[in-house]
Parts: sequence; structure tokens; C-alpha cells
Amino acid sequence: MAIDTAAKTRESQQWSSQFAFIISAIGSAVGLGNIWRFPGVAYSNGGGAFMIPYLFALVTAGIPILFLDYVIGHRFRGSAPLAFRRIKSWFEPLGWFQVMICFFIALYYAVILAWAASYFVFSFGTQWGDDTSKFFQVDFLQIAAEPGVSLDFVPGIAIPLAIVWIVAIAVLALGVTRGVEKANIIFMPLLVVAFVALVVRALFLPGAVDGLNALFTPDFAALLEPKVWIAAYGQIFFSLSIAFGIMITYSSYRHRKSNQTTPGLVVAFANSSFELLAGIGVFSILGFMAAGKPFQEFAAEASISGPMLSFITFPKVISQMPGGWIAGALFFGSLLMAGFTSMISITQVISSAFQDKFKMSPLRASVTTGSVLAVISVCLFGTTTSLYVLDIVDYWANNIGIVFSAILMTLACFWAVRKQKEFSFHLSSLSTFKVGRIWELLLTWLAPLLLGYMFINVTVGICFDGYEGYPSWMLMTFGWGQTIVCIVCAFVFTKFRWPFDPQVFRPWPVYERPRLF
Ligand code: ALA
Repeated sequence: MAIDTAAKTRESQQWSSQFAFIISAIGSAVGLGNIWRFPGVAYSNGGGAFMIPYLFALVTAGIPILFLDYVIGHRFRGSAPLAFRRIKSWFEPLGWFQVMICFFIALYYAVILAWAASYFVFSFGTQWGDDTSKFFQVDFLQIAAEPGVSLDFVPGIAIPLAIVWIVAIAVLALGVTRGVEKANIIFMPLLVVAFVALVVRALFLPGAVDGLNALFTPDFAALLEPKVWIAAYGQIFFSLSIAFGIMITYSSYRHRKSNQTTPGLVVAFANSSFELLAGIGVFSILGFMAAGKPFQEFAAEASISGPMLSFITFPKVISQMPGGWIAGALFFGSLLMAGFTSMISITQVISSAFQDKFKMSPLRASVTTGSVLAVISVCLFGTTTSLYVLDIVDYWANNIGIVFSAILMTLACFWAVRKQKEFSFHLSSLSTFKVGRIWELLLTWLAPLLLGYMFINVTVGICFDGYEGYPSWMLMTFGWGQTIVCIVCAFVFTKFRWPFDPQVFRPWPVYERPRLF
């Protein structure tokens, strides 16, 4: 019988220690979602009051689904398609669906890193000048006047983008232990030092308190709006890297006796702390920029979310700060390091799936899948229409793709094959923090119901109102088109034969009934 190559790879490429796994999982979680997404999302969804839905989402879905990802990857020792296949043969397309979500996220994630790398260089000498909006949109992105698609390449973006891909492929090609783990061990401490230095500097700026007041003053009325709760769940999912294959893949490379839930809590705590730190840093700097103006008035004029916050508003502040270039280098350097460690986790999902299904070495899988990704990424996002396409692909991947995948995961594991006991025993038998009935109930009932409601709400909203005024052909191509491609590819990849029998497999470790409390 053919050798189970997936199991062999897991043995040769195991994380070298619990610490290496935890730091890599934090590296995956802490990314663009924390630095540029969280502050804007929190501000526009109730400010300080946003912490209520945020913490609720973390406890009711974020941490439980993180544990679910861990147990699937660890117990079934495989990339997402293989692990789901081992749970039940017809679940395999769900694994490929998650791989495809990573495929689409990786395409645009890389371009933001390319921008950050360029802006890191521009920080020296604050090369963006006084009109940062014109610099970003006209000089740097050379953005087309109308939304659409073009093949007018912008060398200033396409070249750094190609470099980002080459470095990412090189790290993945070295495998989990020698590549992914080492990159995280180098970049994560550097990121913490750079970002803490930036936040401390920001806190001493005049006006910082006004910014913090704006961020943390609660608007409790916002809690009555469903969109605020949806935003909190969306933020937690993207930020914790859950329900799209990453944590399944990472935990499949863990040692058989590794503690499951305690590292999960460490990762969740570190991720939320970093998110809060980013909020404090970003809003202190914005408070300085508001220069005594009422913050709401200032916020209405300045762009304080997404790419505009990082690449237009921030450079403007940096130009006004004494020694601003240092803050610029720290900010864009942090964005680059945080984003890079997340990007390699996203692309590792794709590489691992190909290694398992097509019996490829890490080198072959990363070069093959990475080259395809790099070419599509440069064609779609190295051109004058990058910003428009990015906005749509990002919205669909997060609000439709990941949420849909999370619903299917809970329905498959807890309704179709009723794995609640098996999974909670596996988690608890290895961990100091036991999970039990509450975890099972959250994932069996609350998560699918809440996520189902969110999904329907977002879908109906898009069908009636469109999205951000984009032409419907663009939404059909890059939005719904993306979802359809994910579904079709999920079934196409499932059709290929496995190089070994994935079902001949004894789940391990052998679990025993743990003491639950
Ligand atoms: N978790 C990653 C982020 O927050 C994907 O950017």
C-alpha cells in the first residue's frame, strides 16, 4: 500500500517546540487586520462600546472556532482538505474551499505588503511630500479614474510585489521548521519592539489624549445596530486567522502530545492585546493630527480606515511630526513584518494542501503554487485598477467566504457527524484548560445561528444595495465570481486521486475521558 506521505511530512517538518508554534500562530494572527483594520472598524462601530460585541464575538465564536481548527488539524494530521477528508470523505471540498479563500486573500495581501515596503523606503526623507493623497493615488498607484480592470502595469507596484512573492516562496520552500518557524522567530520580536516604540512615541504627542478619548468614548446606541455585531465577528475571524484553513494547517505540524487549548488562549490574548495597542497608537497619532479640532469634524475630513488611513492620513501626520521619518519607518516596517508573517501562514495553507494531495515536496509545492499566485497577483494588483479590485475581493473573502466556511465547518462537524464528544475529549485530554459542554453548545447552536444570521444579512444587503457603488459587473466578477470559483475549484480538486489512501489512518493521540470541570 502507498505510504502516507502526509504523515511522513508531518514527522519531518514538526514545529521544533511549543514556543515555535505559539510564536508562529501569533505571527499569523497579528497582521494587517490588527494594524489597519481594527482601529477604523472600532471607531466607526461605536468606539469604546465596540469592545462589548468584540469581546462577545471573541468568547462565543473566536476562541471556540480556534480550538475547533486546532483539534481538526492535530487529530487528523493533515492540511485542510486531508483533515476534512479524514473526518468524512465527502467533507473534502470544504477543505479545498478554505484553500481557495486563502488563494484569494493571498493575492491582495501581498500587494499591501508591497505598498508597505515602498512606503518604508519613502519614509526616509518623507518622500511623499505635502499632498499625501495625490502622492498615493496619482503618483504611486497611478489609479485609473474609473473602477474597472486594466493591464496597464505600474512598475513601482509590480516590481516590489514580485519581490514580496519571491521572498514568500523562498520561506515556504524551506518548509515549516526551517522556513516558516525561523521567519516568525526573527520577525515577531522585531515587530513587538518596533511597534511598542511607535506607540510610546505616539502617546507623548500633543493631542494624543483627544484621539484616545475619541476611540474609547462609548456610543452605546451603536450596540442596537446589527451591522456593529457583524463587524465584530468579521474582525475576530480575519484577525485570529480562523475558519480558513490556517490554524488547521499549522496545528497539523504539532507534536502528538502538545497542549491544545492553553496555547490557543495565549494566541487569542496576544492577538487582542496587539489589536488594542494598535488602536491606542493609531488614535494617539490621529489626535495629534486633529490639532485641537473636534475629532468628529476631523474624522469626517480625514480618511481613518483601511488603506487610506495607512497610506494617506499617516504619511501626512508623519510629515508634521518632529523626527517623523523614524515614526514612518517604524510604522511601515511594523506593517510589513506583521503582514509578512501572516502572508506566509496564508500561503502555507495552499502549499500544504498541494504537498498532501499531489505528493509534492515543500520546494515543489511552494514554487508551483507560489508562481501561479504571483502571476495572478501581479496581473490583478500591479496595475492601475488595483485599489478597486482589492476592495471588492477583500470584502467578499471576509464577509462571504470566511463566514460561509465557518458555518459549514460547524454544521459538518457538529450536525452531520456529531463529533462534539470526540473533539472535546481530544482537546481536554491534552490540555490544562479543559473544554466541555459549553464549548460544544457554543459551536453546535450559537455559532451556526449567529453566523447564519450574519451571512443572510450581508448577502441581502449586497443584493439590494450593491457594494460601495461599484458597477454590478465588477461585483459579479470579483465578488460573486470569486465565491463561485472557490466552490467550483473545491469540487474539481476533490476529484483528483490521493497518492495514498487517506482513510487508512488511526486518529491520534488515543483520547481518554478527561476530567471536565
Ligand atoms: N490574521 C491576519 C490578519 O489579521 C490574516 O491580517
